[in-house]
Amino acid sequence: MKKIRVIYLFTLILSSVNIWAQYQKDALLYKDPNQSVERRVEDLLSRMTLEEKVMQLNQYTLGRNDNANNMADPINDIPAEIGSLIYFSSNPDLRNQVQKKAVETSRLGIPILFGYDVIHGYRTVYPISLAQACSWNPTLVQQACAVAAQEARMSGVDWTFSPMVDVARDGRWGRVSEGYGEDPYTNAVFGAASIKGYQGNDISGSKNVAACLKHYVGYGASEAGRDYVYTEISRQTLWDTYMLPYEEGVKAGAATLMSCFNDISGTPGTANHYILTEILKKRWGHDGFVVSDWGAIEQLRSQGVAKDRKEAAMKAFNAGVEMDMMNQCYNNHLATLVKEGKVSEELLNDAVKRVLRVKFRLGLFDNPYTPSSTEKERFLLPESLKIAEKLAEESIVLLKNEDNVLPLKNGSKIAVVGPMAKSQWHLLGSWRAHGNAEDAVTIYAGLENEFKNRARLLYASGCDFDGEDKSGFEEAKATARDADVIIACLGEKAQWSGENASRSTIALPSIQEELVAALKETGKPIILLLSSGRPLELNRLEKLSDAMLQVWQPGIAGGNPIAGIIAGRINPSGKLSITFPYSTGQIPIYYNQRKSGRTHQGKYQDIPSTPLYGFAHGLSYTNYEYGDIKISSEKIRKKDKLTAEIAVTNTGGMDGMETVHWFIYDPVSTTSRPVKELKLFEKQLIREGETKVFRFEIDPLRDLGFIDGNGDRFVEAGEYYVMVNDKKVKLEVED
Ligand code: GLC
Repeated sequence: MKKIRVIYLFTLILSSVNIWAQYQKDALLYKDPNQSVERRVEDLLSRMTLEEKVMQLNQYTLGRNDNANNMADPINDIPAEIGSLIYFSSNPDLRNQVQKKAVETSRLGIPILFGYDVIHGYRTVYPISLAQACSWNPTLVQQACAVAAQEARMSGVDWTFSPMVDVARDGRWGRVSEGYGEDPYTNAVFGAASIKGYQGNDISGSKNVAACLKHYVGYGASEAGRDYVYTEISRQTLWDTYMLPYEEGVKAGAATLMSCFNDISGTPGTANHYILTEILKKRWGHDGFVVSDWGAIEQLRSQGVAKDRKEAAMKAFNAGVEMDMMNQCYNNHLATLVKEGKVSEELLNDAVKRVLRVKFRLGLFDNPYTPSSTEKERFLLPESLKIAEKLAEESIVLLKNEDNVLPLKNGSKIAVVGPMAKSQWHLLGSWRAHGNAEDAVTIYAGLENEFKNRARLLYASGCDFDGEDKSGFEEAKATARDADVIIACLGEKAQWSGENASRSTIALPSIQEELVAALKETGKPIILLLSSGRPLELNRLEKLSDAMLQVWQPGIAGGNPIAGIIAGRINPSGKLSITFPYSTGQIPIYYNQRKSGRTHQGKYQDIPSTPLYGFAHGLSYTNYEYGDIKISSEKIRKKDKLTAEIAVTNTGGMDGMETVHWFIYDPVSTTSRPVKELKLFEKQLIREGETKVFRFEIDPLRDLGFIDGNGDRFVEAGEYYVMVNDKKVKLEVED
């Protein structure tokens, strides 16, 4: 009896201790949503052990890894104290189950941050980023990113590893597809628009996600277009070419950044204190955190700057990388490095605060679980599909239209041939997240929808994307002979661009060019539709075709707008965000190159030295007449403002959306400058016969100035030019 009483008493004491502990836990300041984020961060940090702090700085994976470039053994026994997981499932249940383990069984109940690569859509896959930039419509891109954020957050993802804003000028590099092209300003504008789309006004929103600017910095300069290699980037070039998109992305409120793989002139980005701490944290004041790219910390060994994983962890952490993505370096070595005094406790605490800050801002402490929802409630909503289709439409670029062969007249018999005609898979491009190819409207289906009862479609595949098999040529030629016009659908496989997808030439495989040459023998007009994740070498195909339409990798909703343009229901408005070289041999070639000392010499002996299609090239079905540029004053002082205007009239027979690109040129400067620099772009609808005025409010320092190798912007007295197309006006800046 006595024994029972003792056990009862003991149980009573134990349960009251637990209740008290639970009360303590619940009553803890960091648990109080009414407290400020900073107070909650400080309070929580003060309670953490060294081991708990270190675990917050690690990211493992959860679910089946879908990135073939990063195959690693999944860590099956996920600790409740882990800071972050890459979440590969599209259902929130597994995520909530693991989150419950963290929140309810770890000592402090710190929620996990779930990240994923939502690059150009989650399930509603829209055009690749390089195509998005050709729309020159940041508002539309922001809307598309908001769709991606909604689908991702409702599926258990709090954080996307996007936008990628790496300026890239070498089409051999597969990842040129993931950024916004060759121009720093273009990448900056679209990067900021994407961040606003992902994060909304408050990242704690149930349909917003934290963004991640990547890959900080200079990854696009990969030598010879090969991935993961050395990048030679002077400080001057670092600042005048690669840093602007990151500076503007931080200003736009990007919650995080990802450090790059590449070695930046001897100091890999992931061990680069200058960019990660001196600039990002001290000069720009970024208060979120930096995650390494997958394996980028332990790769410091293979880059020859760390003798082992422990030294790699020390170098990356002390440089300013707060979170270790799947490297197994921080979890194994950071605590020891702190105890050995090789990593300061202060720096460790700052890193943990940065991670906790983002988690608090995301609302994960107050709402750690993703509400349940059906796929129908999450994915492919009608308004989402409309945005994807509109973005595909506005990103399509009409490269050539000889004798206005386009748009096609009704009643035509149309031969549709080529490997892209009925492909769904390849329309989605790389980094398709949870996109389903079955959701995609093919080019052929789009043409059927558009031309039903108005034209007759004939089909032949002609050939595969590559290989030597010409057995389909005869059938394709016979089909063409039976038609009035040929639409040849060519392009790249989705896996030919993206990560670890460098190609030695940007020409399409010869089998595709030979198919077009065979079709040419029929004498019928040829319209080329080109789907790719990079600029293409088209000089031979250009000679064989009457019209060429660059449709990129438009995602799931490209088929109908492509057909709408072919039929003339839609007036194409896309313009190139990256130069299309005459041939691979011209690479690197981009619009904002530095001036040569001998403009009349230094040309190639065997090919032209100008590109086939330059930056901002894009045709319309209507004509636009540009007036002269008018400026509010031809002489200003550095601190004055200036307005430039240009009137554009639609003199053709069709409404259209026209983008005006405003460039400046500084003929003489302390530092040699590009032959021209994009400073503003604006897109407007101009109806038939209508005139619209485009305005550029010039701030001399921002718009006429340049940046030096220390990242300091300067504007000098002297002569400048403001340019639009072939129009230009001179102005004088005085001190
Ligand atoms: C990859 C990519 C990076 C991506 C990360 C996670 O290696 O370089 O862009 O976000 O790993 O998948």
